[in-house]
Amino acid sequence: MKPAKIYASALAADFSRLGEEIKRVEPFVDGVHLDVMDGHFVPNLSFGAPVIKSLRPLTDLHFDTQLMMTNPHEYFADFADAGCEAVSVHIEVYPDPTEVAAMAREQGLRFGLALNPPTPADAIAPYMALCDHILVMTVHPGFGGQSFLESVLPKIEKVRERVDSNDLGADVQVDGGITATTAPLARSAGAEAFVVGTALFRAENPVDAAKAIREALN
Ligand code: DX5
Repeated sequence: MKPAKIYASALAADFSRLGEEIKRVEPFVDGVHLDVMDGHFVPNLSFGAPVIKSLRPLTDLHFDTQLMMTNPHEYFADFADAGCEAVSVHIEVYPDPTEVAAMAREQGLRFGLALNPPTPADAIAPYMALCDHILVMTVHPGFGGQSFLESVLPKIEKVRERVDSNDLGADVQVDGGITATTAPLARSAGAEAFVVGTALFRAENPVDAAKAIREALN
């Protein structure tokens, strides 16, 4: 398995000081996770490409964007222009994501497939080779601050096993309820990238929180 990566989820930061919040944890994380929500695929709205673009000059961190949208492919050019390196789209939106993966690559974006908790690993099995990363949601998407669903651990194991047995390079990513306690459970199941929102930005000291999660993962 690759070394663990921590992605700070902007959704849990204070939006009035988003740049400052990201700069504070920058030396202690490996990327920024950006949750774009459209009010259709999930019952919530967050932010879009203009907000992401405003953050781009502030940091060289990897921008990993999860598109909780029913029509994300229509915005790939905007997200590429905003400085995103990677996008995830949901397999629930594109049961055959072959074409959408090609569209993301045409824009120079790294591509990933996300799976909601009820969606089985089998749904992405034929398409794993298209992916730079596979995002296994460990909460139902739409809101930060939810509890990690341990019932998803066997699916993380299954995805890990298929990545390895097929010699695929995709990172196995987890998102939702990740803390210093739950991150090691997901790590043992085979995750490499950990999206952390509440446990980082809502902690009394986000720098100490990032260090504690890193330590728990090592
Ligand atoms: C759900 C979001 C959250 C978020 C992480 O749609 O994707 O999982 O980024 O937030 P916490 O760490 O609060 O679960």
